[in-house]
Amino acid sequence: MSQILDGNRVRDQIKAEARPQVERIIAHAGRAPGLAVVLVGHDPASEIYVRSKTKTADDLGIYSETITPPAAIDTAGLLAIIASLNARPEIDGILVQLPLPAHIDSQKILLAVAPEKDVDGFHPLNVGLLSTGRPGPRPCTPAGIIQLLRRYEIPMAGANAVVIGRSDIVGKPMAMLLLHENATVTVCHSRTRNLPAVCREADILVAAIGRPAMITAEYIRPGAVVIDVGQSRVTSRTEAERIFDPSRLPDFDLKGSLLVGDVHPGDMARVSSAYTPVPGGVGPLTIAMLMRNTIESAESRTGLYSNSGLC
Ligand code: GUN
Repeated sequence: MSQILDGNRVRDQIKAEARPQVERIIAHAGRAPGLAVVLVGHDPASEIYVRSKTKTADDLGIYSETITPPAAIDTAGLLAIIASLNARPEIDGILVQLPLPAHIDSQKILLAVAPEKDVDGFHPLNVGLLSTGRPGPRPCTPAGIIQLLRRYEIPMAGANAVVIGRSDIVGKPMAMLLLHENATVTVCHSRTRNLPAVCREADILVAAIGRPAMITAEYIRPGAVVIDVGQSRVTSRTEAERIFDPSRLPDFDLKGSLLVGDVHPGDMARVSSAYTPVPGGVGPLTIAMLMRNTIESAESRTGLYSNSGLC
C-alpha cells in the first residue's frame, strides 16, 4: 500500500506554528503582519486561490487586503499600485497573483515589488538568494513540498530527484531547493528525450507540467515518492474514463468535472511508495508557506528577528 502524503495535515501543523508567531509580532510591533494581494481581472481559478489566501490570513490573525484592478489596467497603472504598496509600512507582504493578462509586462511588475516584501520569492534578487543558498523568501509551492518531505521523513540527501517542468514558480526553485537538500537533481521539460526513462530513475518524482494525468505508470519507478503539483479540471467524460476509477464516474456525472493532477491517480497509488493526492496534497501547502513568508517578512521588517537576512 502506498502512503498518502497528507498536505492538509502538514498545512495544519504549519498554521499551528504560525499562530504564536503572529501573537509575538502583535505584542512587539503593536500591529498584525500585513499582506496585500493584487488580483488583476476576473480569472475564476485565480479568484478562488486568492480567496483561500485571504481566508487563511484572516484565520491566523494576519491583516490582508485584496486589490482588484480591472483586466484592462496597463503596466504603468499596475506599477503605480505596486509603488503605493511598497511605500505602506503596515504592509509586509505583496503578492501579485499570476498569470497576469498578456498585455502586462509581468517581468517588470515582479521586479517592482520591494524585495523585502516579496512573499512569493519571485523577485530576481530573491531568486539569486535562493540560488546561492542565502536566507530569503522561498517560492511557496516548492518550499511547501520540502516541508512535506521533511515532515514525512523522506530522505532527500543522495536521492535521485527528477523535476518535470521548468517554470519560475515551481520547477526551477524546486530543483534548487532539492539541490540544497543534497539530492541529485534532474530537470525535465517538453524537449527532454525519452522522458519516461529519465523519470523512472527518480526516487523522488515531482510533476509540475500542468497536463492532466500525463504521467502514467511507465514514468514511475516502483517504490518512488511522487509529488503531484498539477491541478487541472477534467470536463470530458472520455478523459474522465481514462483517468479515474469507475467508482468516481458518478461523482463526475454529478459535478460535470473533477480535479486531477499531472499524474494518473490510479497508477500513482499503485506504483509509488508514497504520493500527494489531488486535491489535498500540494495545494494546501502553498498557502501555508505564503503565511509563513508573510510572518517572516513582518518579523524582519519590525525588527523582531531577521530570518530573511534582508535587513
Ligand atoms: N499563480 C499560481 N501559483 C502562484 C503563486 O505561487 N504565486 C502567485 N503570485 N501566483 C501564482
